[in-house]
Amino acid sequence: MTTGDPGNTVAYIYNSAVAASAVSAAWELGALDQLDQRGSLDVHEFAADHRLDVPATLGLFRALASVDIVHREDAKVVPGPHFAETLRTRSFFHWLTRGSAELFRRMPELLREENRVGDFHRRDSAAIARACREISAFCYDPWFWEAVDGLDFAVSAVADLGCGSGDRLIKLLERRPGARAVGVDIARPALDVAQEAAAAAGLADRVTLLEADVRTMEARPELAGVDLLTCFMMGHDFWPRDRCVDTLRRLRALFPDARRFLLGDATRTVGVADRDLPAFALAFECGHDIMGTFIPTAGDWESVFEEGGWRLLRKHSIDIAVGEVIFELERL
Ligand SMILES: C[S@@+](CC[C@H](N)C(=O)[O-])C[C@H]1O[C@@H](n2cnc3c(N)ncnc32)[C@H](O)[C@@H]1O
Repeated sequence: MTTGDPGNTVAYIYNSAVAASAVSAAWELGALDQLDQRGSLDVHEFAADHRLDVPATLGLFRALASVDIVHREDAKVVPGPHFAETLRTRSFFHWLTRGSAELFRRMPELLREENRVGDFHRRDSAAIARACREISAFCYDPWFWEAVDGLDFAVSAVADLGCGSGDRLIKLLERRPGARAVGVDIARPALDVAQEAAAAAGLADRVTLLEADVRTMEARPELAGVDLLTCFMMGHDFWPRDRCVDTLRRLRALFPDARRFLLGDATRTVGVADRDLPAFALAFECGHDIMGTFIPTAGDWESVFEEGGWRLLRKHSIDIAVGEVIFELERL
C-alpha cells in the first residue's frame, strides 16, 4: 500500500489516521487474530468476551471499515480487501501509534531547535519492544537464522545488544540447549518484557539481562566467553560516524571472545519518490529525524567496519520495508 492509492482524498487520509490507531488496538485486543482465524466477528459478542464498551468497540471497527480493512454490516464484521496486508504489517502500526505516538503528537515542540537538548523525546519502549518482536519475525528472521545456521562454531554464549523483548535470545537458547545468553538494553520497560518472556519460556536461569547503554557500557564478568554478538534494529543508535567507529571498537574490546557479530538494521532509503514510499519507511525515517537520530545508508555502514575493528564477511540485503540489511562481521 502506498500513498498513491486511488482512495487518496483528504477524507481518506484523515480516516486512515484514525484507522491506524484502530489497527494497533485491534491487534492488541485480539480482534485481528479472531477475524483471521474465524473469518468473521460479532461486535457485541467480541465486546462481551473481552469486557469492552460496546459503542467504543463499534467505533474501532467502523474506523477499520472506513479504509476497507474490514467490511461491516451493523455488528457483523468480516475481513475486507486490505485485511491480509494489514494483518501482515500490524506491527508497523503498533510501532507508530502505540510506541511512537508521543513523538508525532509533540512534533511542533520537538522541531524547535531550543527544545532539542538533553533527553527531549519520549517513546513507549515496552510497546516498541512488542512491535519489534513481530517486525523482526518477517523482516529479519529468515536471513538471521540462515546466518546462525551457517556459523562455523558451536555457540556457547550469545549477547544481544538492544535486546528489546528478548525474543531473539529466547529463540537462540531454544535451539542451542547448552548455551547461555546476555541481553543488554537501555530501557527498563523493554527489559521487563524480556524478563517475563524468558520466565514464560522456562529459560530465566540461562538469561542475564543488563540495563546499560551499549555505547558506554563497561566490561563485566558476564560478557566474557560470549562468542556470538547480535544487534538488531538499534545499530543506528551508534551513529554519527565517529561515535559509531568508537562504539564498534569498544564492542571489540568488551567482547574479546566474540567470533561473529550479526548486525541487522534498517538503512536510509535512497531515491524513493515521496508518493512511492512503502508502509513504515516514512514513519521510521521521519520519527528518527524528529529524535535527531542519524539513519545511515548501507554504504555508510560499510565505510566504518574496518576502522571499527571488524571485517565484513557477508551482507544480506533484505529490503522489505526500510532497506533492512544484515552484516556478518568477524574481528579483524
Ligand atoms: C527497535 S528495538 C529492537 C529490539 C530488538 N533488538 C529486536 O530485534 O526486536 C531497539 C531496542 O534497542 C534499545 N536501545 C536503543 N538504544 C540503546 C542503547 N544505546 N543501548 C542499549 N539499548 C538501546 C531500545 O530500548 C530498544 O529496546
